[in-house]
Amino acid sequence: MEILGKKGSLTAVLRGIGGLPADDRPRVGAVANQVRTSIEAALVARGATLRAAELADRLATEAIDVTTPGRPVGRGALHPIIETMGRIEEIFGRFGFIVHEGPEVEDDLTNFQMLNIAPDHPARDLWDTLYVDVPGHLLRTHTSPLQIRVMQAYRPPIRALLPGRVFRYEAVDASHASEFFQVEGLMVDEGTTMGDLRGLLDEFSRAMFGRDKRTRFRPGYYPFTEPSVAFDVECLVCGGSGCPACSRTGWMTILGAGMVHPVVLQYGGLDPERYQGFAFGMGVERIANLSHGVADLRLYTENDLRFLEQFR
Ligand code: DAH
Repeated sequence: MEILGKKGSLTAVLRGIGGLPADDRPRVGAVANQVRTSIEAALVARGATLRAAELADRLATEAIDVTTPGRPVGRGALHPIIETMGRIEEIFGRFGFIVHEGPEVEDDLTNFQMLNIAPDHPARDLWDTLYVDVPGHLLRTHTSPLQIRVMQAYRPPIRALLPGRVFRYEAVDASHASEFFQVEGLMVDEGTTMGDLRGLLDEFSRAMFGRDKRTRFRPGYYPFTEPSVAFDVECLVCGGSGCPACSRTGWMTILGAGMVHPVVLQYGGLDPERYQGFAFGMGVERIANLSHGVADLRLYTENDLRFLEQFR
């Protein structure tokens, strides 16, 4: 700038040539032009050197060693509850049971009344209910209302498997959660019997827990089934001799079941004189606990990778 710019000293010299005596002009002009050419050449050379140095610098700092092995990318896996639900669905799928889903916000009518649980029925104490702001609506306390929805939507023969998230007002501990999963089963046809139910559940137990495990029915009570039973499998920990895991009974209760109550069939739009059905319902966390030896169901929702990575 100082030399070659518009107001530079060399520029001034070149401009001044016109005012010199004619004899001096060629000599001064030649020298001045020479000076300009060599300064410009020096600048170009210097620029090239600087760019080369900068490039060398970048090459050194930004170099990538393409031979370095890659950082391993962790592979995801199904959550143990989803995996267990998938196994249950697969096993019942072999018997023609088709998966249906329904709403988590349910109406009181379908969650309770149509399942033969009247508003003042003492059986409502079995479920500690979470209500929502919309009158007459609640977070479903079990998957059983899906029985009603399926019966209203399809004609027999019905073989439905009804998985889903359910909600209860609970004090959370190792065996109680306010959100958990159930899988419900429903079969309705002409001439369906308790024997069909037992045979199906025995096959389920064999597939899920092993062929060698004994099973039994115990009398139970649910308002929406009559008769109602609890289905037990020989204790998976002690094999039936009695241990703390099975409260020394030798048996573990897997699910509740029974023959669909005639009133429930009627609410489903079916004639109980013509159709019979059975239903069953199980807690997925409980099945997962039994098949993986997990003792605290809080582990399923804590997102602790040390726990989850064991199920890959
Ligand atoms: N709904 C019941 C519960 O949440 C489980 C159940 C029991 C479902 C017996 C059934 C059944 O379909 O027949 O405890």
